[in-house]
Amino acid sequence: MGSKNVNQTPIQGVDDVVRLHSVRKVYGNERNGVVALDGVTLGIARGTFTAVMGPSGSGKSTALHCAAGLDRPTSGSVLLDGREITGLGERELTRLRRERVGFVFQSFNLLPALTVVENVALPLRLAGRRPKRSRVDDVIARVGLADRRAHRPGELSGGQQQRVALARALITDPAVIFGDEPTGALDTRTALEVLALLRQAVRDSGQTVVIVTHDPVAAAHADRVVFLADGRIADELTSPTAHAVSARMTRLGAWADEPALADGVR
Ligand SMILES: Nc1ncnc2c1ncn2[C@@H]1O[C@H](COP(=O)(O)OP(=O)(O)O)[C@@H](O)[C@H]1O
Ligand SMILES: [Mg+2]
Repeated sequence: MGSKNVNQTPIQGVDDVVRLHSVRKVYGNERNGVVALDGVTLGIARGTFTAVMGPSGSGKSTALHCAAGLDRPTSGSVLLDGREITGLGERELTRLRRERVGFVFQSFNLLPALTVVENVALPLRLAGRRPKRSRVDDVIARVGLADRRAHRPGELSGGQQQRVALARALITDPAVIFGDEPTGALDTRTALEVLALLRQAVRDSGQTVVIVTHDPVAAAHADRVVFLADGRIADELTSPTAHAVSARMTRLGAWADEPALADGVR
């Protein structure tokens, strides 16, 4: 598929759980709108952990939202878990999102009046499924909060709240978990705990995880880092180290002035 990721898997695209093809997103109108994504083609292999990086305003959140069916591209196509979602109606899209996608936000987005158990079970209720207590307890135990089941978000630390949000994302056993700067509001130690849990979901359950992050240390937990600049894929790195990621980010800053260098400095 995209020439950018030919070195990712030998049989490129065969088991991509997400595939963006020539995705363009313009906010406002083409003439005086903002081009957030300018032709993004990207495949995400099932069972992998990907980090998306890039300067502020480079289109990271928009790319994630388009991939997750939270936003619609202006043109191009999005394949999610084997389904072309670009043409789906709102109801079908909502259902697909609820059942096949988990989303973790920087700001946790838990419901303050609900307990941990109720927050985690909510996606199942919204999908019209009856939450099995054992299943809910199991997922809560996986994120290390078995002894906090009856607590409300306000009684938990930021790291604990994000672990609840992760449990809530895992409960439907989604095809992909997306995180938009999921560790952005956490201190270093709790951020590492959340990253370890994401890594664990990939390793032990074959989950697919895609996160946006600014932090090279966080990105180094991923199998692959995709760099965006000005709404385009500028580069990527497999088996990243924090050092290599930092170096690319620095270079990416330079590319803003010298886009012609982008392909030449590998
Ligand atoms: N709802 C919106 N309306 C108008 N412009 C938007 C909207 N969302 C994002 N943008 C613009 O699109 C570009 C990409 O935004 P975003 O995807 O949020 O970037 P990032 O997450 O990398 O910071 C930015 O210029 C931003 O201002
Ligand atoms: Mg963003």
